[in-house]
This record gives sequence, C-alpha cells and structure tokens, in this order.
Amino acid sequence: MAETNFTKLAYKTLQQGKSLAGLAHKQLSTKLMELIAPEAIPSIDPISVEQLNELRRSIEALEKIDWQEADQGLYPKSQLFDAPWLEWAARYPLIWLDLPSTWERRKTKQTRDMPSKINKEVYPDYYLQNFHHQTDGYLSDHSAGLYDLQVEILFNGTADSMRRRIIAPLKIGLKTFENRPQEKLRVLDVATGTGRSLKQIRAALNKVELLGIDLSESYLKQASRYLNNHGKYLAQLVRGNAEEMPFANESMQAVTCVFLLHELPRSARKNVLKECWRVLEPGGVLILADSIQIADSPQFSKILEDFNKVFHEPFYYDYINDDINAMLIESGFKFITAESHFMTRVWSAKKELDQ
Ligand SMILES: C[S@@+](CC[C@H](N)C(=O)[O-])C[C@H]1O[C@@H](n2cnc3c(N)ncnc32)[C@H](O)[C@@H]1O
Repeated sequence: MAETNFTKLAYKTLQQGKSLAGLAHKQLSTKLMELIAPEAIPSIDPISVEQLNELRRSIEALEKIDWQEADQGLYPKSQLFDAPWLEWAARYPLIWLDLPSTWERRKTKQTRDMPSKINKEVYPDYYLQNFHHQTDGYLSDHSAGLYDLQVEILFNGTADSMRRRIIAPLKIGLKTFENRPQEKLRVLDVATGTGRSLKQIRAALNKVELLGIDLSESYLKQASRYLNNHGKYLAQLVRGNAEEMPFANESMQAVTCVFLLHELPRSARKNVLKECWRVLEPGGVLILADSIQIADSPQFSKILEDFNKVFHEPFYYDYINDDINAMLIESGFKFITAESHFMTRVWSAKKELDQ
C-alpha cells in the first residue's frame, strides 16, 4: 500500500513537473519570439479563466484514469514513467536552435520547405508540407529526433497519457479472439511515427505480433532505435502509405491509429479507414485516437480553432468538423463507441464477425 501511494505520488509529481516544464518552455519561447521575430506571433486572444479551469479539470481527469488503469494492471506502472529521458535532455537544446527557422517559416508562410534530397514521387502531395512548421516536415532524421519532445511540450507532458487511452479499448476489442494464444494475434499501428504507441502496446500485450507502418523512413528509424530491446526488436516496421497498405486482407486482429487523421485531407482519411477495415479479420477491432472535435467538445472550440491558426495544420479545420462516426460506418465498421480524454478522442469500432 505504502509503495502504491509512493508510486502514485511520484507519477503526479512527474506529470506536474512535465506540465510546468512545457508551460515554461512555451512562455520563454514566446518572449524570445516577441524580441526576435515579432511578425511570427499569431494573433489570437488569450483564453478565458473558465476555459483554463476546464482544461485543468480535464488534465486531472486524464491523469486519474491513467493511474487507475495502470493500478488495475491494464499496463505496467513503469509505463507511466517511460521515456528516453537522457536522450530528450541531450536533444532539448536542439529544439531552441531550431526555433528561428520555425518562426521564419511561420512568418513567410513557407509550408513546403522540404529537404532537397528526398524523392517527392514516393509521397502523396498532401504529405510534403511542414506540419506544425517543423523543419523538414516528417522527412529527416533531424525532425524525427525532435518530434517526441516537441509533442510532449505541446501537450504539457500529457501526450503519452493520451496515447495510453487506446490500451483499454484495444484489450476489450481483442477479447473476441481470447481463445487464441496471444502469439497468434497481429496488431498493426498505422502511422506509427517514432513508435511510442507500439511501445505502450508491447508493454500491455507482451506476446502479440506487432507491426507498424509509416511514410517516413526517418521516423521509422527512430522507432526502431526506440523499440530495440537489447538487440531484440519489439515490432516489425514497414514504410508505406496508410491509404494503400502492403498487408493482406483480414490479416490483423487489431489496428490502432494515433494522431494521423487530422493530418489528412478528407479523401485520404476515408481511404485510410477503408484500408483499416480491409486488413482486419472479421471480429477485429480498430482503435483510433486523434484530436477532440468541435461537436464533442464545444467548450474547447476556441482552443481547437486557435491551434489551427498557430500551427501549420492544413487539414485540421476540416478534421475538427468532420463526422468520424459516419466515416467509420461508411467504411463498414459497426459497434462504434467514442470517448474524450483531455485533447484526445478515442474511437473503438469493430469489423462484424458475420460478413
Ligand atoms: C502526428 S504524427 C503521429 C505519429 C504517432 N502515431 C504518434 O502518436 O506520435 C503523424 C504521422 O503520420 C505519418 N503519416 C502521415 N500521412 C501518412 C500516410 N498517408 N501513410 C502513413 N503514414 C503517414 C507521418 O509520417 C507521421 O509519422
């Protein structure tokens, strides 16, 4: 009991520390931007005290469920503390060094500033952009090295807690196959990026076969480093487009997809959901996690619209107004449920057993 209380306190302290660090970073970088690149400052009104309180309550609820689900054994408590801390500490100065080029891109509205050596033919046009104004978009080792830290800062240290919300519905969804040994189950993480969700799934389901797909070779390289456990790889990583995946029909028992849909035009969003349906075995489950939307979170509509103004997210406005439930139904999914956790909406949808 004393040990549990201590771990809970340590987790709360860590989250508070990450939150403060995120806020301090943002305040400092805004001050610096005011001095050095005032033209890059987006014109948005400050958020109200009520909204700030609402945000605080929502973060507290997220931390509560994150702790509870670890305490119930849905994933090991060690996951609550899992991060490559030394690597992040070493890379943090690079985030500061990268800021001026980010501001320049924001100021000049340059959003197609891609590395010259990439072969543009192999990527869809919508992908060749500096999402969030990030240097090289998703297409360099430099970008892959900074991404996780940037996301943690953006969400004040809650990104991994939000990603972990896929674990409970994933485990529930996989119950359909509970008569099979775990080794015979294949779970695919679509747009896996640097593999943080894969690592979380591996910790929660330690025997399933794990696969990840992403368009970025650099992000997959980073994922592979991150998922390499003393020479034993925790997942099979494949470079490819989620709209047209190189996997056989009905070859997966579960598919997860975290923070992809808001970065796709609507037609690609539809294609991805249809692909997820195609690769799932009947009875399989799709778990999506992405930004909350206006319809389910009207209290945060200003924050969602501001996000769209501050960061280069060309498809975000369309996404926050899109009807994902309808799109899931159109793709063939049934038994759709959804719930929100702070800034993330998590959907669970099944491919019916009797097709
Ligand atoms: C915002 S990141 C999310 C990454 C990861 N799931 C996470 O939780 O951090 C979006 C990811 O989607 C990938 N991506 C974007 N469009 C894609 C597509 N059509 N097919 C495969 N991956 C894509 C990007 O390379 C990037 O790694």
